[in-house]
Amino acid sequence: MKDYDNIHFGVDYYPEHWPEERWKEDARLMAEMGLGVVRMAEFSWHKMEPREGVFDFSWLDRAISLLGSYGIKTVLGTPTAAPPAWMVNKYPEILPVDSKGITHGFGGRHHDCQSNALYRERCRIIAGKMAERYADNENVIGWQIDNELGNSHSDFCHCSSCRKAFQDWLRKKYGNIDSLNKAWGTAFWSQEYNDFSEVYTTKVTAVGENPSQMLDWKCFHSDLINDFAKNQVDIIRKLAPNQFITHNYMGFSDLVDYYELGKQLDFVCHDQYPLGYWYPGGKCENYDLAAQLDVIRSFKKKPFWIMEQESGIAGSGSMGRLPKPGQIPMWALQSVAHGADAIVFFRWRTCTQGTEQYWHGILPHSGIPGRSYDEIKTMISKVTPVMKEIKGAMPNNKVGIIYSFKQNFAFQIQTQSVGFSYISQLLKYYKMFYDKNIPVDFIAENERLCGYELVVAPLLYLMNENMASKLSDYVENGGNLVLTLRSGVKDDNNICMSDAALPGLLSKVSGCKILEYDPLGSQKVEIEVGEKRCIGTRWADIVLPDGDTEVVARYASEFYKGEAAITRHKFGRGSCWYVGTEGDEELYELLLMDIKSNTKINSGFNKQADIEIVSREKSGVSYLFLINHSDKEVSYTEMGFGSAEELLYGERLGKLAPFEVHIIKKSK
Ligand code: GLA
Ligand code: ZN
Repeated sequence: MKDYDNIHFGVDYYPEHWPEERWKEDARLMAEMGLGVVRMAEFSWHKMEPREGVFDFSWLDRAISLLGSYGIKTVLGTPTAAPPAWMVNKYPEILPVDSKGITHGFGGRHHDCQSNALYRERCRIIAGKMAERYADNENVIGWQIDNELGNSHSDFCHCSSCRKAFQDWLRKKYGNIDSLNKAWGTAFWSQEYNDFSEVYTTKVTAVGENPSQMLDWKCFHSDLINDFAKNQVDIIRKLAPNQFITHNYMGFSDLVDYYELGKQLDFVCHDQYPLGYWYPGGKCENYDLAAQLDVIRSFKKKPFWIMEQESGIAGSGSMGRLPKPGQIPMWALQSVAHGADAIVFFRWRTCTQGTEQYWHGILPHSGIPGRSYDEIKTMISKVTPVMKEIKGAMPNNKVGIIYSFKQNFAFQIQTQSVGFSYISQLLKYYKMFYDKNIPVDFIAENERLCGYELVVAPLLYLMNENMASKLSDYVENGGNLVLTLRSGVKDDNNICMSDAALPGLLSKVSGCKILEYDPLGSQKVEIEVGEKRCIGTRWADIVLPDGDTEVVARYASEFYKGEAAITRHKFGRGSCWYVGTEGDEELYELLLMDIKSNTKINSGFNKQADIEIVSREKSGVSYLFLINHSDKEVSYTEMGFGSAEELLYGERLGKLAPFEVHIIKKSK
């Protein structure tokens, strides 16, 4: 693999949007601010293949080599998120069809069917041509496949090619149609099939849908996107074995199973937009930003890149807030703190044309460097030596939260209660730890749990014997487990289990039973924890503890007042909590206190003001990041750092200027 050890900062560059006479000035400015890499070409299909089979890479050759002469390397994106007009006109069958049967047209991006054989071939051809040409180019270090796979494809695609692909996928999974009929419970509403060729994609129906079919459709769709990527990965691996292959993920985006996609990639990337115009409060919450970065690191359990780090106002038609002085560097360093080894900013210069005219880059429309340029430049010169030193460092976390794409799919199909969402439940637990500076990993359902002191497993709705015994073995052997409402409800086919009372296969480890539940929607129920009163919402399991199970919290209103809401059960050498409701912040705080007093979980760092504290470790040395998310100066007390060294400012240890970050190096 080509060496990319010296790459720490870069930018997404679209030379094709600007006159070529400007490129040199761009390269000069980039080099001057310390950028070492650009990503290019991920939407430039027409520029590279203006007509079918006619290729022109001359402009890209010139851009790569000009940038190379300034010491800037290139990551090339395959342009397959934007098939050109000639292709769509000639092969209209590559356009995607939504669940209402409407074909989506040309004029935006992602107007492609990912199963279409002809489109796959066109993708192979362009990726192959690029790989052939740039495999040995000293300035090209790696590849990004497509762009944000899953983005805009949520309702796609229901064309005849996708229907056939779905049927083939089902045939492979079930072998014979009787097994499918059983797995999907097709006896309900006369949905039995005589043959796989009768099965439809999940188009809109007159009313209702089959939850088992929906779950298979979502799993199929995830596999399809993965396979769409593989189509390109295979050819690039073959032709360009010495360059890395990656992809830009989108945090908790849930169309494609990112753990699976990651298996094809050398490392994963993420696109981070803290001031996205879609956030109700004008800004993504600090804990949510941190969670997105932690989940990205968790997909491959290794450091990652940010392929698009916000560098200015984010917007299309309407725009998000203007970043305050210091915010952009602070967010870049937050990404580093959670495991990013390189930060690529989106994008170089604000574009004058097209959909994203208001998605601001490092340079404004005028191309004249301003505040964003200066702030990022200063940050890069200060931080680059530290980036070199910490490259590869990872956190050593003792808490894991299980994050499963399939469970999430099942809740998207049946939300259970108004306002209920899998990801927001997950984030409640994440925030419970974040607020106390306890760092966490996310873990896949099939991962080993034994390295973790505590595993939070929210909403294990779909359950099977293997998973249940893995969880109970973990607790029996000293692990600590938090289970929640809607666990053990269904089998893997999304059929309700009926062999035992809830939580079914998890009853033994949790030491409780649920015979009745109350889907609260946005209604509230009072909860009592000792002397304290809190609120539950969305859901209330009436938890019946077994004889040796402790009650941690009880309901304090409704007819089930006095019944258990949260329990703790000692099982083997570990403990299992069962949380029957979605709490307010106070309830989670009290739950965490109970967890702390029964486990070895402790952060060691008290939460101070708006300071986020995270660490990365390498060869017996830990790098502690203190991140000031506020626009005020904040002090932090010495927290057992002793004579530890602050890597960015040295003597100013103890006080963080607005949006400032300190990195404290400490040998263990
Ligand atoms: C995404 C995409 C980019 C661009 C930015 C800004 O993250 O990957 O191509 O569209 O958002 O909208
Ligand atoms: Zn299709």
